[in-house]
Amino acid sequence: MIPFLDLEAITARHSAEISAVLSDIVRSGWFLRGGATKEFEKSYAEFIGTRYCVGCANGLDALTLILKGYMALGVMAPGDEVIVPGNTFIASVLAVTRCGLTPVLVDPVESTSLIDERLIEAAITPRTRAVMVVHLYGRCAWTEGIRNLCKRHGLKLIEDNAQAHGARSEQRSVISEQMMARRTGSLGDAAGHSFYPAKNLGAMGDAGAVTTDDEALADVIRRLGNYGMEPKYRCDVEGLNSRIDEMQAAVLTLKLWHLDSDNARRREVADIYTEILPRELLCPTLRADERTPEAVAGSVCHIFPVFTPKRDELQRYLTSAGVETNIHYPIPPHRQRCFPQFADMSLPVTERLADTELSLPISPVLTEEEARFVAEAVLRGLEKID
Ligand SMILES: Cc1ncc(COP(=O)(O)O)c(C=O)c1O
Repeated sequence: MIPFLDLEAITARHSAEISAVLSDIVRSGWFLRGGATKEFEKSYAEFIGTRYCVGCANGLDALTLILKGYMALGVMAPGDEVIVPGNTFIASVLAVTRCGLTPVLVDPVESTSLIDERLIEAAITPRTRAVMVVHLYGRCAWTEGIRNLCKRHGLKLIEDNAQAHGARSEQRSVISEQMMARRTGSLGDAAGHSFYPAKNLGAMGDAGAVTTDDEALADVIRRLGNYGMEPKYRCDVEGLNSRIDEMQAAVLTLKLWHLDSDNARRREVADIYTEILPRELLCPTLRADERTPEAVAGSVCHIFPVFTPKRDELQRYLTSAGVETNIHYPIPPHRQRCFPQFADMSLPVTERLADTELSLPISPVLTEEEARFVAEAVLRGLEKID
């Protein structure tokens, strides 16, 4: 069986280094808010290209802390609206509802499965305070158009960078050379990152971070993640307990060294898939003939999605052929029972994507032979179920 993601093999590549840093921390007796956290925050801010990075417990908390931070700074208040793509992992939406803010879900463009400035503009109301772009599947969702729109309307631009550590902006024709080199997580006003083990930069448990250039926001987020305390035992803002622990921070610092090469390996797998698979199965942003070199370099291929109305049959065939697959995501947020406020909402593109998406195995440890095996199994599957 080719697993969807072989975390054991991914981790085994670094097991000696991981054991060494973990035993240092065990010996130090210092497990939270120490040197390993500081070192990771510094390294990750440098890697992303922001002035500040604040570690926290997970990606959902990172997005929550950004919104709570803006609320503490008076930028938004309960009931204000945040525009979020309809086709995202539920955590993007949970962060908004958790803060007493109102998520306004926007259906994406079918050809890219990303929201664009035209769709965002149509959803803006007098209560809109922020737009959250989600770098879904590892591709940059930020555009200069979205940034300009947010500037024009005085909206905060938040990036959900859970799936795209290391990705770069693809907007060559509309932005300067300097902007082109920037990584996702440094393109908006603030970004939330998840280091859930399956992510491109994965911890050995839960972890997350916020990156930003905004000093006031970074300060308040650091406080909010530690019960709102500053100085010790004094709370001017109501906070959470959301800190990155020293062991996760040390493991992430170590794995950060390998992130660019891991992402390059993922792109090699994606190139094999795009070379072998029929183009109508591929997300247009990944089709070989439509990709610009910047697009190839820009995506970090967190997920390799294919789209077919015969998704369930193809998935069954692949399982029988020894290929494990996944679906991102079978039930979109507005169809979840926990959100009765969306019960009557129709987001046709989001729903179609949820009904047709299938994620193929992709990782830095998937070999060329395995990738070819997967792609050929897909071709056989398509013939069989036709
Ligand atoms: C797009 C997106 N946003 C947010 C999250 C939440 O991150 P976490 O699982 O660390 O809370 C995830 C991943 O799990 C995600 O894929």
